[in-house]
Amino acid sequence: MSKQILVLPGDGIGPEIVAEAIKVLAAVKDKYQLAIDWQEGLVGGAAIDAEGLPLPESTLAQAKAADAILLGAVGGPKWDQLEMAKRPEKGLLGLRAELQLFGNLRPAILYPQLANASTLKPEVVAGLDILIVRELTGGIYFGQPRGIKTLENGERQGFNTYVYSESEIRRIAKVAFEAAQKRQGRLCSVDKANVLEATVLWREVMEEVAKDYPDVELSHMYVDNAAMQLVRAPKQFDVIVTGNMFGDILSDAAAMLTGSIGMLPSASLNAESKGMYEPIHGSAPDIAGKGVANPLATILSIAMMLRYSLGYPEPADAIEVAVKQVLADGLRTADIYTEEADTRQVSTKTMGDAVVAAL
Ligand code: NAD
Ligand code: IPM
Ligand code: MN
Repeated sequence: MSKQILVLPGDGIGPEIVAEAIKVLAAVKDKYQLAIDWQEGLVGGAAIDAEGLPLPESTLAQAKAADAILLGAVGGPKWDQLEMAKRPEKGLLGLRAELQLFGNLRPAILYPQLANASTLKPEVVAGLDILIVRELTGGIYFGQPRGIKTLENGERQGFNTYVYSESEIRRIAKVAFEAAQKRQGRLCSVDKANVLEATVLWREVMEEVAKDYPDVELSHMYVDNAAMQLVRAPKQFDVIVTGNMFGDILSDAAAMLTGSIGMLPSASLNAESKGMYEPIHGSAPDIAGKGVANPLATILSIAMMLRYSLGYPEPADAIEVAVKQVLADGLRTADIYTEEADTRQVSTKTMGDAVVAAL
């Protein structure tokens, strides 16, 4: 039986970039005779507009039944005034929580052709290849209690809880150590153990798990320093492991090292390696509908999906090679365009078509 993929385009540039990724998926299906099929579903603002809530039961059921999920992006100004529980972002967070997709892999790789697209000096980023392993179903994103309440003096107070249990830390640690084993064997755990108890425990558990991976060199860094080091000397890192919120922030910073946030794919995996795949960027309301968004992060997410959830490493490699080829051919969406000889600015669609042609 063929493997089933649930495609959730979402909002803003979501449908534009997902359309290009699906073209690429169709092309590799054809070329490699893959036993895969896909169907579309609703999530985020699109689901709110159609059904009144960001994660309809039917979408959740489709997601649970699927072998893998491809998501575009959710959110936008249209839904920003809704109460927290009804916002588009809850659709995404709900999928992550319901499917227990705790292991978020965010590789930041600089393609050599984009050295000038980065806002950092080419020599600082040349050869960059780091992996951020972000815990995705715990921490302050999901901790209880949370909310906004009115105090006795009439003042309002907003509160969230930064909480991690030992088992949550242990399982993400294993993902990170195993990833480091397959790479350069260096793992940097990022925390705020000088201030937050939850991350004191984080650091302790990382040290405990390290005993099972003597071939991996574990180091620790405070998150403020890590943000600074990422822009000062990013190549010092091999694998970074960190909690939900720090990982969200650091991965956007890491994205810019590669030229654009439009270049970073991600995989969100559960214990059974079932996964959701998405670009790390959002719905980019400022450019939605203009046909200029960079589809490469989403296309590269397809490659991760084929590799991690569907067991097709060969077409995954082929997609990555094709992306390198179109960059070498000088094609650039606006976000990665620099005025250089032999480069030209192209639309979302032209970029997608070029990747298909390169395949
Ligand atoms: P964003 O990532 O959507 O955009 C930040 C900037 O990066 C914008 O200038 C945008 O134009 C640019 N950008 C993003 N993706 C791009 C691409 N593929 N090509 C070219 N440029 C790109 O972040 P934001 O503006 O803070 O958030 C907008 C909305 O997206 C919010 O509603 C937010 O909650 C949501 N969001 C969703 C996800 C997700 O679905 N995974 C992730 C982040 C933000
Ligand atoms: C991301 C996004 C999400 C997050 C939002 C939209 C909930 O920023 O995937 O990085 O904060 O995890
Ligand atoms: Mn983010």
